Amino acid sequence: MARLNSILTATAIAIATLAGPTSAACTREDLFAAAETYISAQAAGDSSSLSLSETFEYWENNAKADIATGLLSKPLKLDYNRTTADTTQCASFTELIATSGPYVVATQIWYDDAGAIAKIDTIAATTGDLFFNAAQTLEYVKDHDWSEVPEAERVSRDALKDIGDAYLDMWTDATAADKIPWGTECERVEGSMRTEPCGGTLPRGGSAKANGNRRYAIDEVLGSVDVLCSFDSLGPWPDSHEIRVEGGKVRYVYTVTLM
Ligand SMILES: *[C@@H]1O[C@H](CO)[C@@H](O)[C@H](O)[C@H]1NC(C)=O
Repeated sequence: MARLNSILTATAIAIATLAGPTSAACTREDLFAAAETYISAQAAGDSSSLSLSETFEYWENNAKADIATGLLSKPLKLDYNRTTADTTQCASFTELIATSGPYVVATQIWYDDAGAIAKIDTIAATTGDLFFNAAQTLEYVKDHDWSEVPEAERVSRDALKDIGDAYLDMWTDATAADKIPWGTECERVEGSMRTEPCGGTLPRGGSAKANGNRRYAIDEVLGSVDVLCSFDSLGPWPDSHEIRVEGGKVRYVYTVTLM
């Protein structure tokens, strides 16, 4: 019996090892629950309840910042929040809209192996930023369908990343727009500006400088790729582009861009 137990234990350890270095925070449930603590912290303007790693870094609009004095210290009445989970990288992406802030916020959260928050990386647009109008953005996105993509219609992480990259490459690569699988019902929401279908007017190269410093959070189940970047093709603008892909085709594009 003791021997059987030790064999079972050894088997359990072997299975755990095979499964790789996943931590508790890397299941979808845990990533959503942890993101909810961030959302509540932002609503309260109080980050003290967040579980931060010893090496924690807070970034706001592509610059290192202090969580104690940054946006997270400012209570926001949230009209909208939506999160996607990247279980492969142990990260999540959340979009927030506060019409009274007013703010539209795009945040990636990165976790360490112990499940503590290693990095909060946030792009926060407000009055004066590119096409900014939080109430209008809310109006456009609030009834959008972000339910799970049926399993047979999902696309791979690599395909989602390629779509995100092709999108950001359109300003420097004249052929990039044609590499994107546009859906016929595609809707592009850039602040207060909506373009339907997405492919109606598209950039076809022309800029010398590629959009750089790209950070990706990818959720195959929700068909989402979010890329935070520096929108260098038009200016060094802190930016978030999130793309939802359904059945292999682009359905929504949401941007948050600072100027
Ligand atoms: C986030 O949105 C959900 C609905 O999707 C809502 O139930 C929850 O209260 C919101 N959280 C905050 C802190 O506003």
